[in-house]
Amino acid sequence: MLTGKTVLVGVTGGIAAYKAAELVSLLVREGTVVRVVMTAAATRFVAPLTFASLSGNPVACDLFAPAAGVHAHIDLAAAADLVVVAPATADFLAKAAAGLADDLLTTLLLACTRPVLLCPAMNTNMYRHPAVRENLARLARLGYHLMEPDAGRLACGTVGPGRLPEPARIVEHLAALCPRRDLAGYTVLVTAGATREPIDPVRFISNRSSGKMGFALARAALERGARVILVSGAAEVEPPPGVELVTVDTAEAMRSAVLSFAPECDLIVKAAAVADYRPARVADQKIKKDRERTLELVRNPDILQELGASKGNRVLVGFAAETENLLESARAKLTKKNLDLLVANDVSRADSGFGSDTNLVWLVFPEGPPQELPLMDKRLVAERILDEAAGILAGRRPTGSGLTGATDGHNH
Ligand code: PMT
Repeated sequence: MLTGKTVLVGVTGGIAAYKAAELVSLLVREGTVVRVVMTAAATRFVAPLTFASLSGNPVACDLFAPAAGVHAHIDLAAAADLVVVAPATADFLAKAAAGLADDLLTTLLLACTRPVLLCPAMNTNMYRHPAVRENLARLARLGYHLMEPDAGRLACGTVGPGRLPEPARIVEHLAALCPRRDLAGYTVLVTAGATREPIDPVRFISNRSSGKMGFALARAALERGARVILVSGAAEVEPPPGVELVTVDTAEAMRSAVLSFAPECDLIVKAAAVADYRPARVADQKIKKDRERTLELVRNPDILQELGASKGNRVLVGFAAETENLLESARAKLTKKNLDLLVANDVSRADSGFGSDTNLVWLVFPEGPPQELPLMDKRLVAERILDEAAGILAGRRPTGSGLTGATDGHNH
């Protein structure tokens, strides 16, 4: 997957900088062209010559080095298919989160439109510090890919999260981010987030969907070359730049938006958590707490089922959020809604489903055994779902069937 690609490895000044040498070595063995950029602090831990020898390319450390040319930051960013910063120190994360550009690495990140993977590594207390957590959250919102550090005994003696993941795992993660253009020419509609069903002017019924899973799908589809329509309910994360964003509140508004775009779509992925019920009546004024009240609910339309009933040539992917009988319920939904793929989402754990950065899912198909995926970052789950969807699309309408319209999004 990485063979022939150019990977830019950023190394910042932490003790784990020595592990970046193994990362570079593994990437070279994968047939990757590796360019290394080091911060001044990183050169205190490992000599640039180490990386130059392993990569077979000169190492860039200085924004103003005359030999690198006046546009070194632009040229390096443009040449890379992927960027990984390993280790990424707390200082570097703070600079990147603020958009600072005071050295070669931070400057080239601003010029880069390719996927960027950041691998934080630091002392456990530093990693847990609210300032670092806020910077990481902001970086995720800005579209950077983040890899959780491993937990264990750190160089400082502390035991806890903060260790740079094994280089082989970083390479795996990079391979999953490697831009494929297998959705170029296709229009993909993704639904995300939570619907809100009003009770009165100030109250509503909703759920805990953050939009992370749906937004990860939209971003991944964009990076793979699709035109992406993102129909989003309430969400806690920033939509990826480059998508056509349609924001909705209620299930009925989501239904209208989805059905109006459906005829132009090749693939629809419904990750949104849609309220199954809404209040039968919406009060004009704020309801007073003067007595006991009963809220009467009526069923909302099932958007996915409607799409399945008139599917045409479209590929339809649904989700099933379950706390029990995961596969049984998933299979029933797949059949009832006439889906090509159902993502059965275990939402009984804190690190999976609503709100979390990671997800635990099974991929369930109309035929053949279901596939269990390990607990993974939602972005990687998104990539796996799109791998399957792209395969189904390719089988249905082979590439070169006269499709046009591939776009190049700004795809961190
Ligand atoms: O947003 P995050 O915090 O990242 O959380 C992600 C998620 C848990 C919301 C997501 O992974 C997920 O599981 N989404 C589906 C949630 C859901 O509503 O599941 P369901 O089993 O109730 O619905 C089954 C499918 O039918 C879903 O694809 C849903 O979008 C769709 N549906 C449901 C009800 C309805 N009235 N219309 C629908 O189209």
